[in-house]
Amino acid sequence: MKYAGTDLVGEIQALKKERNAVILAHNYQVREIQEVADFVGDSLGLSYQAAKTDAEVIAFCGVHFMAETAKIVNPGKRVVLPDMDAGCSLSDSCPAGRLEAYLKEHADRNYYVIAYINCSAGVKALSDVICTSGNAVRIVESAPKDRNLLFVPDQNLGAWVMEQTGRPMELWKGSCYVHVEFTRDSIAKVRTEHPGAPVVAHPECTHAVRILADEVCSTEKMITYCKASPARKFIIVTESGMLHRLRREIPDREFIAGPTDRCACADCRFMKLNTLEKLHAALLHLEPEIVIPEETRRRAEVPIRRMLEWSA
Ligand code: 13P
Ligand code: SF4
Repeated sequence: MKYAGTDLVGEIQALKKERNAVILAHNYQVREIQEVADFVGDSLGLSYQAAKTDAEVIAFCGVHFMAETAKIVNPGKRVVLPDMDAGCSLSDSCPAGRLEAYLKEHADRNYYVIAYINCSAGVKALSDVICTSGNAVRIVESAPKDRNLLFVPDQNLGAWVMEQTGRPMELWKGSCYVHVEFTRDSIAKVRTEHPGAPVVAHPECTHAVRILADEVCSTEKMITYCKASPARKFIIVTESGMLHRLRREIPDREFIAGPTDRCACADCRFMKLNTLEKLHAALLHLEPEIVIPEETRRRAEVPIRRMLEWSA
């Protein structure tokens, strides 16, 4: 791709070397970013990559809570996020102050707090263990049996994990504004248009959509599921960026975007804020940089390390 008379991808590669940087990208990023990244994956895979990198700079192409997670496990490294406004509706649905007040008010319940990784460093600092959609079942199964579980912030992922494990949990009432857009009708309709194509849905979808799916899984497991399946065509019910990764890695199959009632596929407006131009600027100026107060970072690292240990 050309940029002001130069080769933007080439410049990003050169800057990456110069800065001793690694580019980590989530599966929902635009195709050009996925193509220039050193690693593309789900939240769990990205956490492992962030925890083990030797690079001095992490350019995180994803949303804020993901870049924050990378910083929490790498306090000595510089972590840059191409666009600081790349937030997350799920993370926003559970502000740390509200969770803290809730825990105080219900101190008699002595909650064991399991936080989906889609939350702020402040919420992580109040939690006992973190999970992602890729390991949530395993993490909940490993939680102490004699404690009341509070699952924050995604009620849909939490409900799905309860169905899988049979473990009762209290659920925070947050949700992802993208995944709740898929409806029973929008999925039923696309299914009649593509008979026989398995429906693969993310667990952030509502119960009404999950029960229509042939497989409910994290974005990374969508790759393994589709690779292993004999089907030639799949309906992918998650954010649209996922289709780039699937099409690149499994070019001999067809992938149909799960539509919502309003549009043919669903974009996360936060994920789409990152662009190649902003990634280039972030590597050039080494900002916008993720900064976390040390006390919060230190407390937030404990449940992340616990997650990495339990899901190893
Ligand atoms: P994954 O960890 O499955 O990639 O999900 C992240 C996310 O933000 C889903 O909306
Ligand atoms: Fe957050 Fe939903 Fe966007 Fe994922 S898709 S980053 S959960 S708003």
